[in-house]
Amino acid sequence: MTANLSAMNLLLATRNQHKTREFTQLLGPNFTLRDLTRTRDLPEIRETGRAFEENAVIKAIAISKIFPHEMVIADDSGLEVDALNGAPGVFSARYGGENASDQRNVEKLLHEVQGATKRSARFRCVIALAKNGKLMTTVAGEVGGRITKSPRGGNGFGYDPIFIPEGFEETFAELPSETKNAVSHRAKAVAELVRYFNTARRLARN
Ligand code: IMP
Repeated sequence: MTANLSAMNLLLATRNQHKTREFTQLLGPNFTLRDLTRTRDLPEIRETGRAFEENAVIKAIAISKIFPHEMVIADDSGLEVDALNGAPGVFSARYGGENASDQRNVEKLLHEVQGATKRSARFRCVIALAKNGKLMTTVAGEVGGRITKSPRGGNGFGYDPIFIPEGFEETFAELPSETKNAVSHRAKAVAELVRYFNTARRLARN
């Protein structure tokens, strides 16, 4: 594979390799993405915000201070279920307890919505972009859908096996990654981020 020399380097503030894989596919060949999987001894960054945007900004700023020469993106995302008044929301990753597995989170969510006739839900994603401790922008995306009665499919991660996006009958975990990446909350946020970069490049040229 030949390197794209004009590609923009981005550091994704995550150790979640599922997120990294989706970002790599969504950003395409004009970006070179690195994540924090191989970075040791990072201080704990506490996601204390009550909204996705707050937490994305906390992560992006903190990591960009540690890597001041890198353009840092941080994604905070999660599932909001109407029958649970928007839960698990910002607590999506730890809904089943601190360090809970995806399976445990899914089990808890299905238990909580057991018997609910209203199954509507949405995934939300906010991406914050920061350099050297300074926030440059935030972008957001969401996708509506509904919660199944039991998990289906082996693709994706997190709550994908119990979420059917609007316009489909399959869960995100049953759909091919290309289909998820065409309609997902993250896809919409990344499309907005790419528009931001394109505008910034155009302005820099003029
Ligand atoms: P974060 O790393 O704090 O943003 O946590 C995000 C959590 O929300 C993940 O651990 C998943 O449980 C859930 N989540 C976010 N995006 C997705 C997705 O695309 N599919 C399934 N679950 C997701």
